[in-house]
Amino acid sequence: MSTMNLAAFKELIKQRCGLSFEGISEAPLVSGLQKRIALTGAKSASAYYAALLADEHEFNELAGLLTINETYFYREPEQLQLLVDCLVPRLLSRKQHDSPLRILCAGCSSGEEPYSIAIALREKYGESATRLFTLVGGDIDKGALAKARIGRYAEFSFRSLAPELRARYFKRYDQWNWSLNDEVRAQVRFHHLNLLDAHYAHELQNFDIIFFRNVSIYFDRPTRRIIQQHLATLLNDDGYLIIGAAETLANDLGVLSLVKESGLFYFAKQTPEPAKAALKPPALGMTSGKPAPAVGPLAAQPPAPPYQHRPPALSTDDALRLTLEKQYDEALAILALLLKQQPDTSAALLLKAHIQLHRKDYAAAEENAQLALTIEPWSTDAFVLLGLAAKWRNQSDAALKWFKQAVYARNECWPAHYYLGELYRSDNKMDNARRAYRVVLQLLSAQQAPTDGLSIIPLGLPVSEVRFLCLHQLAKLGDNPSMVSN
Ligand SMILES: C[S@@+](CC[C@H](N)C(=O)[O-])C[C@H]1O[C@@H](n2cnc3c(N)ncnc32)[C@H](O)[C@@H]1O
Repeated sequence: MSTMNLAAFKELIKQRCGLSFEGISEAPLVSGLQKRIALTGAKSASAYYAALLADEHEFNELAGLLTINETYFYREPEQLQLLVDCLVPRLLSRKQHDSPLRILCAGCSSGEEPYSIAIALREKYGESATRLFTLVGGDIDKGALAKARIGRYAEFSFRSLAPELRARYFKRYDQWNWSLNDEVRAQVRFHHLNLLDAHYAHELQNFDIIFFRNVSIYFDRPTRRIIQQHLATLLNDDGYLIIGAAETLANDLGVLSLVKESGLFYFAKQTPEPAKAALKPPALGMTSGKPAPAVGPLAAQPPAPPYQHRPPALSTDDALRLTLEKQYDEALAILALLLKQQPDTSAALLLKAHIQLHRKDYAAAEENAQLALTIEPWSTDAFVLLGLAAKWRNQSDAALKWFKQAVYARNECWPAHYYLGELYRSDNKMDNARRAYRVVLQLLSAQQAPTDGLSIIPLGLPVSEVRFLCLHQLAKLGDNPSMVSN
């Protein structure tokens, strides 16, 4: 498929369902397109493109091949605790009628998330949960929804669920699978949902609580804003939106109010509880060069002021925050200022190279990464940037060299090991690939919150997705993933 028509497909997919292939491998897109072209018997890529434009069903079939459905029971259990201990009791106490509280999981994949919520509510409210709550799961992937409706799961989905809960709510189906109890299964309804559709079906309206976790990471900032605006219209007044803990910062878009409670963040449709203090924008810590976790109560915030109204005391942290928000022009403006004042600041050079890399300005990115190396000769960040620049230019030998340097400088740099695995695999060096994927899994399972060994550049590789991809690749390479995962 030529670069030109691949670009047209990418554009259409981004526009229709938000998925962006910017800066990530195109291989899944190419193989998805090849598969659907073969299955539909389209005569050419352009004929298939025309079919996608005309036929929503075909578009959904393709989207189902491109989504990442990684999920499991009791993912981020602290948020489930917050739900049953604080949010639900509060909403129940405010209710003025008998109708059930409505909870939506937007991007529910194969159902583990809404069923976890149903289980957590049943644990607290017993049989009354059936009467008190209605749960709905929505996803663009019809295959995942079909699996969700069946409610049968293999071992991998239970990796975070307490054994006593599995014993209480599931029974063995066969050697590999467990079936969910019928009452819990009946409590969740599943509907097809494309978060970027202009209108949502009647069943997907009026919710008290929406879970939208581990989905927004696949979208850019403008898309996240459009989606959050949609979700806000689905929420009843005083409703809550819960986003994955690691995604919250990137979703504070001024659409809903950010609230902190019991050490966790969520969004509220209206003013937060008077008891809650005003939330300040989370501080960005300087120690590691990466944002520190937000501390102190946050309050409902007005949208972030435009860049020109910011106070003039600028630092690499400001540039980093803007980079994380993909406001690259503003970040570059700050970096230019900082580098003018102090040209030998490696953090500013590395961040600049990072942005240039994302803008596909490989030569400039390499130049700045090399400059950073003259100041800090063992900079893992610089090695990784140079490795990525080479990888994205298909210079695999050079990429291998840089990623090897990165792991030599900091063995815990699991992204570099992961990229090494990918490069070895595409070079058919399967033993080396296996070894690299196994190192990634070991590094990721050795620590609760794995560090990536990088000091400034926000690579943003999602840990759970990388873990899943390594396990997936190892299984395909005939390795036994259970030997390395915990
Ligand atoms: C990684 S899973 C997250 C599952 C679950 N929320 C969790 O946290 O475990 C992301 C899901 O988002 C879905 N998704 C991606 N784009 C979507 C869209 N435009 N509309 C609806 N669902 C979408 C994918 O199909 C996938 O099942």
